[in-house]
Amino acid sequence: MGSRILYGKNIIKKFGDSEVLHGVDVEITEGDFTVVMGSSGSGKSTLLYLLSGMDKPSDGEIFYRDSEISKASEKELTHLRASQFGFVFQRTHLIGNLTVSENIRMAGLIGGLSEKECKSKAAELIRKMNLEKVEDHLPSEVSGGEAQRTAVARAVINRPAVIFADEPTGALNRANSTEVLNLLTMLNENGQTVLLVTHDRESALRGNRVLYLDDGRITGELSLSNYAGKDAGREEKLADWLEGLRW
Ligand SMILES: Nc1ncnc2c1ncn2[C@@H]1O[C@H](COP(=O)(O)OP(=O)(O)O)[C@@H](O)[C@H]1O
Ligand SMILES: [Mg+2]
Repeated sequence: MGSRILYGKNIIKKFGDSEVLHGVDVEITEGDFTVVMGSSGSGKSTLLYLLSGMDKPSDGEIFYRDSEISKASEKELTHLRASQFGFVFQRTHLIGNLTVSENIRMAGLIGGLSEKECKSKAAELIRKMNLEKVEDHLPSEVSGGEAQRTAVARAVINRPAVIFADEPTGALNRANSTEVLNLLTMLNENGQTVLLVTHDRESALRGNRVLYLDDGRITGELSLSNYAGKDAGREEKLADWLEGLRW
């Protein structure tokens, strides 16, 4: 059983006069694949930005292990994000004038790996993520799926403790979505904690725990077996649960 790796207590987030998170309590266990589901505008991305230290709450407390990140300085947060967290978004944000391989290695350098380590780790990831054919191509010369696999490789080269993914398959076709989800599943099976935000059932099914966010409040929680377990009832369980939430 993993220990608590992220913890948010009574998180309130306001943008101007508009409050978008109304006191969210959330605990993420190390090694879990946690999914936050909810409709568009429910506050999923906002919650992910707060838990990953990209933004600060208006009120409440957020902890990564024992450190209160809601109180950390910008400098401490930058270091934390670079060394402990990996990010994958709907848009890849790859650097356009660097090749696939260079984009991946660059993230390693920023995270403090030596040139040599970057090279060998990038080569390993390129193999794992099936990017050999395009490693010397620019992002503009690769497919959407290849670009997103590159973004995943870039996110994990520093072996982050937590991978934050915000609708990572939102811009992909089904085959590429499945591949990206397979990668996240594989990373989780290797012990990395995954927090995935989505409004897509296929993605949600990868989690072993699904939280439901409705208009800035967590209104549901579902526990699933590990994806590798793939018990026949998984899909139905999720469907029934979502129906109960009037999804
Ligand atoms: N930077 C911002 N400034 C003002 N309002 C924002 C900002 N970011 C998000 N919002 C608002 O907060 C609400 C939740 O947004 P978001 O977290 O992006 O939802 P989701 O990811 O679930 O679609 C929306 O109403 C959105 O318009
Ligand atoms: Mg969003």
